[in-house]
Amino acid sequence: MKRITINKIIKKKNTTPIICLTAYSKTIAKIADKYCDIILVGDSLGMVLYGMETTKEVKIDTMILHAKVVKNSAKKSLVVFDMPYRTYTNKFIAYKNASKVIKLTKCDAIKLEGGKKIVEIIKYLTRKGIPVMGHIGLLPQTSRNFKPKGKNFNQKKQIFEDALAISNSGAFAIVVECVVENLAKKITKNISIPTIGIGASKHCDGQILVTDDMIGLSDFLPKFVKQYSNLKKVIEKCIKNYSRDVKLRRFPSYKNVYK
Ligand code: KIV
Repeated sequence: MKRITINKIIKKKNTTPIICLTAYSKTIAKIADKYCDIILVGDSLGMVLYGMETTKEVKIDTMILHAKVVKNSAKKSLVVFDMPYRTYTNKFIAYKNASKVIKLTKCDAIKLEGGKKIVEIIKYLTRKGIPVMGHIGLLPQTSRNFKPKGKNFNQKKQIFEDALAISNSGAFAIVVECVVENLAKKITKNISIPTIGIGASKHCDGQILVTDDMIGLSDFLPKFVKQYSNLKKVIEKCIKNYSRDVKLRRFPSYKNVYK
């Protein structure tokens, strides 16, 4: 099966919703690959898998390990690598790190958080042939609190200007995180590249969620997440039953024994 191209993703704007999820492992990547246009190896893995307080602690080499297996497992979705905190402090550092990432993981693109301040970095990377996805609104790598953005005039103006700047810098899509509905709608209408919303209403061109939140494996359940299952409960039931079976010598049974 052929991998979706960035051009095809861009062409979906105003026509077909773009489906995106995060993946950090082979199992999730393989399943997500059947249904998603884009799989993001998100630095949210710091909190979700490694119990870190924030994404600031995530190291590029940890991300590379996860991205390698995700890229190997996903055959048709575009795989995007989320550049960790302080790996793109200027355009030269960004290029050095992004080149290493692409070389080692074979990911199709990278994602950077930020607005107007990172325009020169995006221009430089895209000129050098590295596709970039932007990320505006709530920026987990630098935000001090987890509150919806764009509630007042100044914030709205700043985020809208960020969206225009990123769109004009050569990025192929933008994640819009946790912004009020009317701002997400305005951004989506006024920029030429797809917006991928997370907590940013149905008016975006696509949607993304952290898979572990959506399947009920994490402890994070903000208003914008729809929980499609509660896998923590399912896993607990399995482990409880296994523990009971071992205690009662019901496991292993004759079915699990070599003769
Ligand atoms: O790290 C991540 O998973 C992300 C998504 C929330 C978009 O950046």
